[in-house]
Amino acid sequence: MATDVLIRLSDIAKNYSMGTSVVHALRGVSLAIAKGEFIAVMGASGSGKSTLMNILGCLDVPDTGEYVIDGEEAWKLTPNRLAALRNRKMGFVFQAFNLLPRTTALENVELPLLYNRTVGARDTRRKSLDALERVGLRDRAYHFSSQLSGGQQQRVAIARAIVNDPVIVLADEPTGNLDSQISVDIMAVFQRLNRNGITIIMVTHEQDIAQYASRRITFRDGTVITDEPVAARRNAEAELAGRSIGGQGGA
Ligand SMILES: Nc1ncnc2c1ncn2[C@@H]1O[C@H](COP(=O)(O)OP(=O)(O)O)[C@@H](O)[C@H]1O
Ligand SMILES: [Mg+2]
Repeated sequence: MATDVLIRLSDIAKNYSMGTSVVHALRGVSLAIAKGEFIAVMGASGSGKSTLMNILGCLDVPDTGEYVIDGEEAWKLTPNRLAALRNRKMGFVFQAFNLLPRTTALENVELPLLYNRTVGARDTRRKSLDALERVGLRDRAYHFSSQLSGGQQQRVAIARAIVNDPVIVLADEPTGNLDSQISVDIMAVFQRLNRNGITIIMVTHEQDIAQYASRRITFRDGTVITDEPVAARRNAEAELAGRSIGGQGGA
């Protein structure tokens, strides 16, 4: 069991000074996350979810506490080494899709690889088309992002997040701008990536979206208040198959 722990947080605290007062965004959070988990992070606005995600994603550092990510003692790393850890191991998906307009789906996905000097032009193209294939959008590679629906744009953003073969995908409200039917498409993509070995940590406000995850962790006022496996986990691909069969039958 100890060997497959991917992320371990020990007593992580993060405060923000607001003038003369202090906001305790995280108050001593300890967590172990195994490789291959799909975690839904829940909790009211202001409970510390994004602060946690920023620390897990090596975008920010805690004030106190120790944390290990994929064998690296992240809390001891210099900012440069933390950035390197982020670039090698993390993919990010946000509520706003953050695609460049007037740019094709393929070019958006290639973007992270353009900064990676170890990957040449041909490999960049091949890896990016492969990432689009994995989100079911290979046939939209040469469409401009503005020509794509919201759900398709989010899938391009996911392809961009996985093009560097991350170990972990961090998604902060990835379905926050999408209606519930389209959200199931996104959950199908996440569940497939997860089955293929990517660990996913996803913030959501929606109970029904959390049910596609394997474990649900709920925050309140900077602490974990519940942490449990998802009972009656939903299967997005099965739901989508049922939907199209129902549609053909005219139900
Ligand atoms: N950069 C910041 N400066 C000051 N306060 C912040 C900052 N980021 C977050 N906070 C505060 O920390 C608390 C937790 O915020 P956050 O992690 O964004 O919560 P959530 O994502 O659950 O809505 C909130 O009270 C928020 O106002
Ligand atoms: Mg947030």
